[in-house]
Amino acid sequence: MAKSDNQNDDKKRLPRKDLPPDARIETLAVREGLPPTQWGENSEALFLTSSFNHPDAATAAARFANEEEAFVYTRFTNPTTMMFERRLAALEGTEAAIATSSGMSAILLLVMGLLKSGDHIVCSQSVFGSTITLLQAQFGKFGVETTFVSQTDVGAWRSAVKPNTKLFFAETPSNPLTEVCDIAALAEIAHAAGALLAVDNCFCTPALQKPVDLGADLIIHSGTKYLDGQGRVLAGAICGPDAIVNGPLMTTLRGAGMTLAPFNAWVVLKGLETLSIRMAAQSANALQLAQWLEQQPQVDQVYYPGLPSHPQHALAMKQQNNCGGAVVSFTVKPAQGEVTVPAPAVLSDDAKRLRQAAFHVIDHTKLCSITSNLGDTKTLITHPSSTSHGRLSEDQRLAAGITQGMIRVAVGLEHIDDLTADLARGLDTLNA
Ligand SMILES: Cc1ncc(COP(=O)(O)O)c(C=O)c1O
Repeated sequence: MAKSDNQNDDKKRLPRKDLPPDARIETLAVREGLPPTQWGENSEALFLTSSFNHPDAATAAARFANEEEAFVYTRFTNPTTMMFERRLAALEGTEAAIATSSGMSAILLLVMGLLKSGDHIVCSQSVFGSTITLLQAQFGKFGVETTFVSQTDVGAWRSAVKPNTKLFFAETPSNPLTEVCDIAALAEIAHAAGALLAVDNCFCTPALQKPVDLGADLIIHSGTKYLDGQGRVLAGAICGPDAIVNGPLMTTLRGAGMTLAPFNAWVVLKGLETLSIRMAAQSANALQLAQWLEQQPQVDQVYYPGLPSHPQHALAMKQQNNCGGAVVSFTVKPAQGEVTVPAPAVLSDDAKRLRQAAFHVIDHTKLCSITSNLGDTKTLITHPSSTSHGRLSEDQRLAAGITQGMIRVAVGLEHIDDLTADLARGLDTLNA
């Protein structure tokens, strides 16, 4: 089904909600979608149906021929999913959005839909571990080559461009080091090379950062994170120009089926309603936690864009609505004595002692959930080296700056004093 919003097109269009043209992000987050059904429901309806009926065969034919916009089959369109797509596009400031079953399937759709064998990608080496694996191991098999470069070295991105470069892929702030890349500078280099810039906006969400305003072409989301906000479902999306989203991306999704289930679409759609206030509250907690961590003697380094000590602090404040976000990472100093935690034999003794210290802090928390997700109202604590980035080699991790002593905290809505007390338990006894 074509979902173009091009008003000059004389196809029969699905109705839009009558919203003020200058409605702000908070208003769009609770109002954008589709008009209610004939029953006048106030909360958006959940359409659990695989297919949609047509009044007659001729209408069915017109809808299949894209002469009339209508719902046909949930693999490529569903009213609940469309409400999520319209709302997310409105928040990101893009013409359109397409929902996917997870954040990884959004990246799968992006590359599958826009690139072909022989094409080249330039990607930050600090992106989410599975993104590296997908681009390198999976797309490498199909002849799409990726060059990984330093997240923050603009010159390295420029030097990596080849005649066949079609895509720049960045994630900012990065996971878990919170490195911030200069979106406007990367957009300029990508466009000069005739490539598109895709930005994974998972950590900031449109509540804090709008990459299209800085020149990015496509926005990637793991809706599993802050868009849902309560750790309930997997979801993903790509936001961008109508010609791309409802062109090659829709064609690929329709054929390949990395579709978001309507129930999950409904959950993230409702999650968007509280996005701004959650991001503000969780980011405020994160800033306080980062400031507290900087004062702890067992902590080696704190990675948080909201701290003046962060190498890209000024850029982050400019790019991220003056806010550091809600993810704080830190490294602990090595543990003393014999290493007792399980550790791969390839690790050096120093790396094993760092791992021991990190495991000690994580294992002494009682409140934080030990899990590899982020973007939940509950605070989540992770050891990236052995979980989210566990499938990379130690060399790949170290190239990305992820040591065995690193801990990532995705800060939730608990009281800050309860969070610092939780982390103090492990830190205080570290070298006792
Ligand atoms: C920055 C980032 N992008 C993409 C993903 C993948 O999202 P999903 O788990 O929804 O597939 C993750 C997951 O942690 C992530 O952190």
